[in-house]
Amino acid sequence: MTVDATLAPPATGTSAPPATGALRIGPHTVWPPVVLAPMAGITNAPFRTLCREFSGGKGLFVSEMITTRALVERNDKTMQLIHFDATETPRSIQLYGVDPATVGKAVRMIVDEDLADHVDLNFGCPVPKVTRKGGGSALPFKRNLLRAILREAVGSAGDLPVTIKMRKGIDDDHLTYLDAGRIAVEEGVTAVALHGRTAAQHYGGTADWDAIARLKEHVPEIPVLGNGDIWCAEDAVRMMRETGCDGVVVGRGCLGRPWLFGDLVAALGSGAPGEGGAPAAPRFGEVAAVMRRHAELLGLWLGDEARGVVDFRKHVPWYTKGFSVGSDVRRALAMASSLAELSELLESLDQSQPWPAHADGPRGRTAPGKRVVLPDGWLDDPYACAALSEDAESATSGG
Ligand SMILES: Cc1cc2nc3c(=O)[nH]c(=O)nc-3n(C[C@H](O)[C@H](O)[C@H](O)COP(=O)(O)O)c2cc1C
Repeated sequence: MTVDATLAPPATGTSAPPATGALRIGPHTVWPPVVLAPMAGITNAPFRTLCREFSGGKGLFVSEMITTRALVERNDKTMQLIHFDATETPRSIQLYGVDPATVGKAVRMIVDEDLADHVDLNFGCPVPKVTRKGGGSALPFKRNLLRAILREAVGSAGDLPVTIKMRKGIDDDHLTYLDAGRIAVEEGVTAVALHGRTAAQHYGGTADWDAIARLKEHVPEIPVLGNGDIWCAEDAVRMMRETGCDGVVVGRGCLGRPWLFGDLVAALGSGAPGEGGAPAAPRFGEVAAVMRRHAELLGLWLGDEARGVVDFRKHVPWYTKGFSVGSDVRRALAMASSLAELSELLESLDQSQPWPAHADGPRGRTAPGKRVVLPDGWLDDPYACAALSEDAESATSGG
């Protein structure tokens, strides 16, 4: 699919991009330095393909999180999740693991079977059922366990670059990101991405971009990617300017708006007139066309049209946010199970509706956190040996 002209950025670009070099992830040059954030249940091959189509193939697109134990056990669903479209290069897989040996095995499997060109490791998950076992964003508090995992991953990766993605720490009294960044450098990690929130914040409040600037100063040896609260291309330009980071990672802003990726690439790329700087504002008709395309790609990926349309249901509220849809059609869209049904419902709506101004800004998860649940005594000693049971890996849901 080519980018619909009406979805392309308007010709009134307002901002020149910050002066940046290309982002280097090992042998891969990423220009402009824009990365699609890994999002469990979202950034599968169809969604990555859609974002890539809007970016003209520029940028880096990370898979949804894959648990290392499920990968080494060749779990059926996991093998489906690591599928890349033939057009995807470089292929980025995000892994989540708590046991150094299993992480090493998973990375070796990726290398031996040529499953990806880049491995990212997730240390940002704030979900209580994960932190309760010491996993996710709780893990970097145990410096030696983090080091052991990174050593195994990098040691098993051969020429494949290994990057990490993390949060600031557990809470404001237990920040881990500067130590984790230093350990990452010492263990040969290629780049670090920081989501400027603690686990305690979940998705509440605002991301702390100052922390991204501090990390950049702290680990000048490797690229630092900034993440958190980029809702439009202008935000990405501003984050790079204000923090000095080497690239941006964008998640929720792309939910129901894959064309934002094209806008980001244009704004951070040349910044020439007509190449970005303001968010695209498609009419409903154009949005509906992207919705159909997304559902169709999901069906092709899953090998079953109905399953594709059912999987697409969760995206409907994001795509239709702010448009006048009506509760009956909204309900019917959330229950559609064929492409024909989806198309008919979308066509029943006013295609000429302009992009609703209030659809810009935060979308997706925004809930504030509660208390971070940790294993007993977890915070007693950051350097104590820690070995986690592998059920810290089960039922995780991202970062
Ligand atoms: C639905 C959803 C799923 C996510 N899954 C993952 C994941 O699998 N791995 C990960 O590192 N982060 C995950 N995250 C966190 C995002 O990658 C990102 O760090 C976070 O949303 C902040 O960036 P944003 O403000 O651009 O959304 C997820 C976030 C959302 C909303």
